[in-house]
Amino acid sequence: MKRFKLISLTAVSLVALASTASTALAAEPIKVGIIAEMTGAFADFGQQMTTGAKAYMKEHGDTVAGRKIELIIRDVGGPAPDVSKRLAQELVVKDNVDFLAGFGLTPNALAVAPIATEAKKPTIIMNAATSIITTKSPYMTRVSMTLPQVTSPLGDWAYKNGIRTVYTAVADYGPGYDAEAAFKKSFTAAGGEIVGSVRMPLTNPDYGPFVQRIKDTKPDAAFVFVPAGESAVGFMKAYAERGLKAAGIKLIATGDMTDDGVIDALGDNAVGVITTHHYSAAHDSPENRAFIAAYAAIDPTHRPNFMAVGGYDAMALIYSVVRQLNGVMDPDKAMAIIRGAKLLSPRGPIMIDPETHDITQNVYVREVKRVDGKLYNVEFATISMVKDPGKEASK
Ligand code: PHB
Repeated sequence: MKRFKLISLTAVSLVALASTASTALAAEPIKVGIIAEMTGAFADFGQQMTTGAKAYMKEHGDTVAGRKIELIIRDVGGPAPDVSKRLAQELVVKDNVDFLAGFGLTPNALAVAPIATEAKKPTIIMNAATSIITTKSPYMTRVSMTLPQVTSPLGDWAYKNGIRTVYTAVADYGPGYDAEAAFKKSFTAAGGEIVGSVRMPLTNPDYGPFVQRIKDTKPDAAFVFVPAGESAVGFMKAYAERGLKAAGIKLIATGDMTDDGVIDALGDNAVGVITTHHYSAAHDSPENRAFIAAYAAIDPTHRPNFMAVGGYDAMALIYSVVRQLNGVMDPDKAMAIIRGAKLLSPRGPIMIDPETHDITQNVYVREVKRVDGKLYNVEFATISMVKDPGKEASK
């Protein structure tokens, strides 16, 4: 009798313990570990991505399915794959995050793929855009773009618009190689000729000599990919100083060259530049207006660019997953929701391809124009729901 009593008491206390544990669990926030370039030459990447993420939370509240959402932001500095990997390990082991996110630069994203896989952490790329990244882990997805996706349509556009000879100039790392290959493929398939190609350093580049070589070759146009921000400003300065515009050599590029974060600093040299990309602050939609207003409520001094949209949409995806899982996280169920997910983004409709878990989206052809005194990428043509052609090529 005595023994029975003891057992039942233990059972009661176990039940009590279990319910305390589940209350504690319900009260625990969902943690999103963001690894981003917050300092150094690429600091605007981190600023844009994290402000975009915060803008989503400001607009939609910080609680989903009864769970608070908490951002844990870690600075990776510049291109530093070892640091990125260490930060991911710490976020997983010490902070026990539910998601990993961020990554402006490709090497920082690639370094984290093995950790995403081993720890089964849904990992959302907010910018890094080399095609191969999402093939490196079944737990990685991307809400930004791939370079082949945004570049391929430009090769077609260039030939259709009378450009016959092009010199390609790209940053000497993954996204640059992807952009170079995709441009060559679509432009030569249309009938165009590549008359020269050069790869330029990612860090501390002096663009002058490269731009001079382009000028000496006298192509109809230069196709350029450099990372957004300081690199783009530097390239545009060299293009102007060496007189390429005056020599009649057109500049065509991915939208990284004329991103909204720096476009006003490019000045009149940028007017008339044609680019292809997935986001422009000038995109006319209610979703984009709401995004710009939410961003301005946090940072009224900067214009949001495509990286900010990546941060915003990463949070939209995370909120949708947490809502559908009713606040109970499970990595495999999360990835099942992410594959095939559809969102109405500030850039237009987006979808995560169920097969590749990479992004499918509209690509827009744009021209830099002055609107009310300020420079904007004005969209004038849309190629609907483009999949990453880089995945097709590597099959
Ligand atoms: C990248 O490293 O993948 C990257 C960085 C900046 C861009 C685009 C791609 O503007």
